[in-house]
Amino acid sequence: MRDNYLEEYYSFLRFPSVSTDDKYKEKLVECANWLVNKLTRIGLRTQLVPTKRHPIVWARNEHRPGRPTVLIYGHYDVQPPDPLDLWDSPPFEPVLKNGYVFARGATDNKGQILSHILGIQETIEEHRELPVNVHLVIEGEEEIGSANLGPFLNQNREALKCDVAVVSDTGMIARGVPTMSYGLRGVTALEVKVIGPKMDLHSGVFGGAVANPITALAQLLATLHDREGRVAIAGFYDRVTPLEEWERDAWRKLPVDGDKLIREETGVSELFGEAGYNSAERIWARPTAEINGIGGGYQGQGTKTVIPSHAFAKLTFRLVPEQRGEEILELAKTHLEKNLPKGVTMDVTTGHSGPWYLTDPHSAMGEAAQRALRKAFNRDAALIREGGSIPIVSEFREILGIETLLMGLALPDCRAHSPNENFPLENFEGGIRLNKAIMEELAH
Ligand code: BES
Ligand code: MN
Repeated sequence: MRDNYLEEYYSFLRFPSVSTDDKYKEKLVECANWLVNKLTRIGLRTQLVPTKRHPIVWARNEHRPGRPTVLIYGHYDVQPPDPLDLWDSPPFEPVLKNGYVFARGATDNKGQILSHILGIQETIEEHRELPVNVHLVIEGEEEIGSANLGPFLNQNREALKCDVAVVSDTGMIARGVPTMSYGLRGVTALEVKVIGPKMDLHSGVFGGAVANPITALAQLLATLHDREGRVAIAGFYDRVTPLEEWERDAWRKLPVDGDKLIREETGVSELFGEAGYNSAERIWARPTAEINGIGGGYQGQGTKTVIPSHAFAKLTFRLVPEQRGEEILELAKTHLEKNLPKGVTMDVTTGHSGPWYLTDPHSAMGEAAQRALRKAFNRDAALIREGGSIPIVSEFREILGIETLLMGLALPDCRAHSPNENFPLENFEGGIRLNKAIMEELAH
């Protein structure tokens, strides 16, 4: 790897491009402009495309008719770095330790997308051109649901006409094991606010005579699951495609022990999830309901004797084939209304959502991806599904009519979305090789 790569990677990581929080708005623009500069310098025609929120970076080489066209997608936005005190070094001041770069976005997705850019750069330097037509689309809203990318694809459908999408925003099952993902879960979000008295009340003066919104919320949230870990919302599983025996078999043969890996990586004393499935099956093929945040009442030091006026919780649902996000939100709302305890009212706000994705790893393009993975990592690719979501991938299919090759480089211990996110330089280099290999394979 060339000396200046690490410095470039660090520059990219130093932008706190947190898409969800508008106090970073300017930083996203700066980060996008950094990409525009970089891509222009390596010889691509690049533009910054403004959207209602964060800009999209779009770069292409000179179009040669008759060659396949590949869309390489990634994102420059990152998740919030919080909780800050759990980081060993500041999240936007990258450091290298034992071959791993630590920073928010190191893996998800800056390290991975930069390795593609450097692969393209090296190919252009070596051959003066790329073997395929390329569109690089790097957005700033992946971590908040990609709401403005669909409209961009629609508006530029003709110009973006292509044969396949390549995305490295997924994982490898283990270090050194190239991995092709043929499925993603979808995700859909809602926020519930339980409302009680018109102000926080003295809990001695009013307590016992007025419902406590936090108690009501706790009771309400407890109705979401049964004791066996199944989601208890009526109709939730109606459209779920059952996991087939061939797929369970194939996953059992993968060169990792999923249960062990998750126990070690998370530090939990015991695994827990839907009865009848192992961890990989629960994560890759079963839907969930998760509470991501909860709030209300006094949060400061010491005690305060109040009945809070309200309480809230943030929920997301991970979706699998053939569940529909809108329908799940309706079912969830009905469930919450039906189970709302007495004495309080409720407000439900729905948030962003993205559908699940499932593709055939043995299509002609899928086989090309597997050959490229083998070439870059010297080992046969593992075929898996993923528990995470990349909302735009199903729109690549709907709007552009193309399938997506998910060939990610995140390791199970990369700590994406967590403190101390990291990416091994080994995978950064592997990503450069992989970019070259996939372009060659797709050129045939
Ligand atoms: N890179 C992840 C998605 C991912 C993670 C795929 C692990 C496969 C394995 C992506 O950046 C992400 O975090 N997506 C969000 C989307 C959501 C905010 C709409 C997710 O999955 O939570
Ligand atoms: Mn992410």
